[in-house]
Amino acid sequence: MTDSNPTTQLPNVLVTGASRGLGQAIALAMATKGHKVVGTATSAEGAAKITTELAAISPSSCGKVLRQNEKESVDQLFTELKEEEATPLILIANAGITSDNLVLRMKEEEWRQVLDVNLTGNFNLTSVAIKPMVKARWGRIIFIGSVVGSIGNLGQANYAASKAGLIGFSKSLAREFASRNITSNLIAPGFIDTDMTAKLDDAIKEEMLRNIPLRRYGKPTEVAALASFLSSEDSSYITGQTLHINGGMFMD
Ligand SMILES: NC(=O)c1ccc[n+]([C@@H]2O[C@H](COP(=O)([O-])OP(=O)(O)OC[C@H]3O[C@@H](n4cnc5c(N)ncnc54)[C@H](OP(=O)(O)O)[C@@H]3O)[C@@H](O)[C@H]2O)c1
Repeated sequence: MTDSNPTTQLPNVLVTGASRGLGQAIALAMATKGHKVVGTATSAEGAAKITTELAAISPSSCGKVLRQNEKESVDQLFTELKEEEATPLILIANAGITSDNLVLRMKEEEWRQVLDVNLTGNFNLTSVAIKPMVKARWGRIIFIGSVVGSIGNLGQANYAASKAGLIGFSKSLAREFASRNITSNLIAPGFIDTDMTAKLDDAIKEEMLRNIPLRRYGKPTEVAALASFLSSEDSSYITGQTLHINGGMFMD
């Protein structure tokens, strides 16, 4: 692999959590655009599946293992990316988990696990990923947050807190690295049709639909289109923003 696609010279992209759902759609969209993409999964099997999916579009793209809550896993990934000349200048930090419970029943472990992956994991990742961007004096950081980071949600205090924390983190990065031409923005999806939402009760899904003015769930490809725009030159003057994509269920 080389540092950039030899035909188009587009920057390399890292998409975390690309084994399914939003991350998969984003990785495929960026590879289709001509970027060399590394997508991550938490297991070797997941990474191999990503390689197969991406190879059909972009032979230089591949899947790799990342558990972003483990600092050693982040360091290992970036060592491999450097060795393979695949260091990214576009980071699409999509990976995230839920572990829902009402606050009165929530165990500290449930709180900690979600914060560790969704918030501390993104700090682990970004603090390493930002260095080559600073050196290149160009970079794009795009976090996938959630509408619940802005409005809260019953049974999701841990998840909402992690996503609200990401907004502050993204804005701080935008201020710290603006002088290096690095933008940092957060996409806050509402209800998108993926594995994460498929596991919700039907009653909760119906209730959510009633609160969406466009009367449908979003598609992963719609989030991917926004991530693609935010990673492009056309978005150069947008930084520190939270971009909501939710069918109108929350209007900022
Ligand atoms: N779906 C929605 O409606 C919705 C709405 C708002 C926000 N979001 C956010 O959008 C993002 C993607 O959501 P999704 O619905 O596509 O999720 P998903 O289908 O559950 O996929 C989650 C991804 O994150 C990866 N992952 C899990 N733990 C990880 C860890 N410790 N380190 C690195 N990667 C890890 C998973 O890898 P494995 O496959 O190996 O487990 C998987 O690729 C999340 O941040 C989520 O919070 C989703």
